[in-house]
Amino acid sequence: MRFVVTAGPTREFIDAVRFLSNPSTGRMGFAVARAARAAGHEVTLIAGPVSLKTPPGVTRIDVVSARDMLNAVRTVIARADVLVMTAAVADWRPAHCASRKLKKTEMSDTLHLVRNPDILKTINSLVGSPRRGDRLSARSASGPYQMGLIRIGFAAETGAPAAEAARKCREKGLDLVVGNDVTEPGSGFGTATNRVTFVTPDGTVQRLPLMSKLAVAHRIVSFAERRAKG
Ligand code: C5P
Repeated sequence: MRFVVTAGPTREFIDAVRFLSNPSTGRMGFAVARAARAAGHEVTLIAGPVSLKTPPGVTRIDVVSARDMLNAVRTVIARADVLVMTAAVADWRPAHCASRKLKKTEMSDTLHLVRNPDILKTINSLVGSPRRGDRLSARSASGPYQMGLIRIGFAAETGAPAAEAARKCREKGLDLVVGNDVTEPGSGFGTATNRVTFVTPDGTVQRLPLMSKLAVAHRIVSFAERRAKG
């Protein structure tokens, strides 16, 4: 299958040297790319600014902002069978970005923000949502996009993630949401391990034990492979 995986944070620039971002390091997304490639899939990895090596055999596209990431996903999604959105996309960006460094005296104490596009929702509006159980016939439908695209999202929460993950699963039309509590030791930003909860649209909640991000990644790839079979 063809996987598109997003990873890392996005940066939303205020001026030439200042930006809004978050602590994502890209480790989880790079692990998904590595696991999918190891399982024999074709992988395009769309990475925000991170300092990780590209896994062998993976095609990488580097991006900076949420809008760059959306454009990159749009460019490659037509050929994809699976989209795994591990990226910690910034929800807002400054309404204006100066191309040079602003002097402190030129900056106001308040920053005017605007919402970034939601990448998953935008892709849903392009691809459409196949009826449940109709994935195999949807997959063979002709047209520019894979109607049967398998969509996997993440829900990084402070606190138990299951309820929020279930809401995101419905709201973003996902086949799987991988929830985690970023405040838990050994989970979240920058750690080598993660304790995650899988939530599917039928309301099933599966809590996995603490394991390496690569082991979590293999579980995600296996889920996509099973889902593709119907
Ligand atoms: O709503 P929230 O940002 O918590 O949802 C998380 C999921 O949505 C992640 O899979 C993330 O990659 C994706 N996302 C997105 N576009 C955004 C923000 C988040 O696709 N602008």
